[in-house]
Amino acid sequence: MPAHAASAAAAPQPILSLRDVEKTYGRGNKQVDALRGVTLDVYPGEIFGIIGPSGAGKSTLIRCINLLERPEKGQIFIDGVDVTGFRGRRLREVRRNIGMVFQHFNLLSNRTAAGNVAFPMEIVGIPKGERARRVAQLLAFVGLEEKADRYPSELSGGEKQRVGIARALAMEPRILLCDEATSALDPDTTVAILNLLKSINQRLGLTIVMVTHQMHVVRSICHRVAVIDQGRIAEVGPVMELFSNPRATATRRLVGEAAGIA
Ligand SMILES: Nc1ncnc2c1ncn2[C@@H]1O[C@H](COP(=O)(O)OP(=O)(O)O)[C@@H](O)[C@H]1O
Ligand SMILES: [Mg+2]
Repeated sequence: MPAHAASAAAAPQPILSLRDVEKTYGRGNKQVDALRGVTLDVYPGEIFGIIGPSGAGKSTLIRCINLLERPEKGQIFIDGVDVTGFRGRRLREVRRNIGMVFQHFNLLSNRTAAGNVAFPMEIVGIPKGERARRVAQLLAFVGLEEKADRYPSELSGGEKQRVGIARALAMEPRILLCDEATSALDPDTTVAILNLLKSINQRLGLTIVMVTHQMHVVRSICHRVAVIDQGRIAEVGPVMELFSNPRATATRRLVGEAAGIA
């Protein structure tokens, strides 16, 4: 048996795969090719970074993964199942398995921290007692049990993001997608939130996909990283390997910029 066949058999199945995903906005002279054939594999339990400059297609990629956008071409697989065309009940099931954390938190301002965390559970009809128990657990998990009754306007940025993370975990997702989750936070708060995400990954074994334009975010918590540039994956690999020996122009540029700032 050839060596590559043996290693392929031993390799775990990706939890998330993208194959030749293309996404275009607008038409004619307003057409933007946001994703131009993106292929990626993310494995269970990893923290996978996607880094690239503004406009590279990162948010589009995240929205394609949870099927908020439909790609024109290509497929999205979850646990080996092609979910690209899913609608209705099956689509809701896929979305339930994917938690989202946003740059600007996207909390409901008229609900308390506890009310925000409870929201996804209310939508699917989890009974009140069970909901309250899980909300308390989740808020404790993110270190916010004291702030359960505070409204978003009464919370700091870091606290709001902890609520956002607790809410994303409420439905016990299999994958957590973070779109610039620390980009609106100051450096100390960024470190605290990254540590929280790292501990979620370690304690729950949750697969995390981190989209960011910040190299230090990738450096501090990601296991592997893909560099995205103008809608294409320029390079993928283990973080240390990729940043210490960048091959693609886009990766060299990122490394150069980071060195310039340091
Ligand atoms: N809803 C939209 N309509 C038209 N163009 C869009 C839309 N969303 C994103 N784009 C364009 O697609 C490209 C990729 O955007 P985006 O995925 O938001 O990049 P990133 O998150 O990396 O900054 C950009 O050129 C952006 O202007
Ligand atoms: Mg974006």
